[in-house]
Amino acid sequence: MLGNFTYCNPTKLIFGKGALDGLKAELEKFGKNVLLVYGGGSIKRNGIYDKVTAILRECGKNVAEDAGVMPNPTVEKLNEGCERARACDADLILAVGGGSVCDYAKAVSVSAYCGEDPWQKYFIRFEEPTCKIIPVGCVLTMVGTGSEMNGGSVITNHAEKLKIGHVFGEEVFPKFSVLDPEFTFTLPDYQMKAGFFDIMCHILEQYLSDEDDNTSDYIAEGLMRSLVHSTRVAVKDPKNYEARSNIMWTSTWALNTLIAKGKTTDWEVHMIGQGIGAYTDATHGMTLSAVAMPYYRMIMPYAVEKFARFAECVWDVDAAGKSREQVAAEGLDAMEKWMREIGLVMNISELGVTPDMLDGIVKATFLNEGGYKVLTAADVKTILEQSM
Ligand code: NZQ
Ligand code: ZN
Repeated sequence: MLGNFTYCNPTKLIFGKGALDGLKAELEKFGKNVLLVYGGGSIKRNGIYDKVTAILRECGKNVAEDAGVMPNPTVEKLNEGCERARACDADLILAVGGGSVCDYAKAVSVSAYCGEDPWQKYFIRFEEPTCKIIPVGCVLTMVGTGSEMNGGSVITNHAEKLKIGHVFGEEVFPKFSVLDPEFTFTLPDYQMKAGFFDIMCHILEQYLSDEDDNTSDYIAEGLMRSLVHSTRVAVKDPKNYEARSNIMWTSTWALNTLIAKGKTTDWEVHMIGQGIGAYTDATHGMTLSAVAMPYYRMIMPYAVEKFARFAECVWDVDAAGKSREQVAAEGLDAMEKWMREIGLVMNISELGVTPDMLDGIVKATFLNEGGYKVLTAADVKTILEQSM
């Protein structure tokens, strides 16, 4: 049965070639002081920085910059960003980059005026913001996280060996996001592919829970079919606009709250991935691909029918004359074949995990209850060992 829910997504999207032309009108809705947040310099090399700053100048904004947001943004960087946001009295935080930059901007937006340690408040105690929230806008340059249209913010604390996400409410969603698929053309191959699996994993984390007949699952199947098709095209021809634009759009819908409506969700692959990230600082999407297959094969016996449906509806497995277990297993085999074909990392050793880290990663992994099997710490260890 479809459960009860409320749905509201306040992020305005401006999508397509030349989407940045829409930035000026959005900027004019906010005050003069803009904190421009970006990463390690890719936007300077590919020209996006020049385009964005020209528009900011045209709008007569006072611009302060906060550069150097690293992939998997840290708690130390967050504290620095809060000081900068207060120092320039930011009316808007403009995030130009990937999920890390966008997540970081949201974290700063709720932390600059929170008056206490944001790590403890939001990422350990999971409290909601009660202070002034600085609005965030986004110009997206990397596809995968869905951060452009959701309230998620993931922060890493290396000292505590923890990587934790807080899913904030609508008041923290970006007010607008500019999505030009061509802005993703300069992504390194590894990042592009990591983003592809992040999208697949987001959909599966929401799809692989519940056995009910739920419209959200049919939407998820359509998104996955589109993703599998377009990623196959994009890995061979990364500048294929049709494929990259479809992937960008799929990515946004994969994690903008829609397909989680009316059902429970899992997120266990992300929990394990975050544990790995806390120990290795590895690229997010690859921390997921490296453990996904052992995880899905472990939980498949607890939801054979759903995995068989997945096999038929997403991977076109022919079910005639086969047991449901066989169909389900063939679906997972087809998924593994696609993962290898598009060039994902399939084991955690490649991400820098060494045997002495395994117990720590197990400890850093939250055990969720929404999936088909609630894992034990020993199960997480088995998955990690199978992925070595
Ligand atoms: O730092 P710069 O120089 O910009 O380089 C980045 C970075 O090195 C580069 N890049 C981005 N766009 C580029 C580009 N290089 C060339 N051309 C471009 N157009 O790509 C690298 C990775 O960027 P990053 O933002 O770290 O990647 P991603 O978008 O995958 O974000 C990862 C972070 O998002 C969190 C992850 O945990 C991780 O911390 N997540 C956020 C979620 C959310 N908000 O809901 C959900 C996700 O599951 C995820 O956990
Ligand atoms: Zn993810």
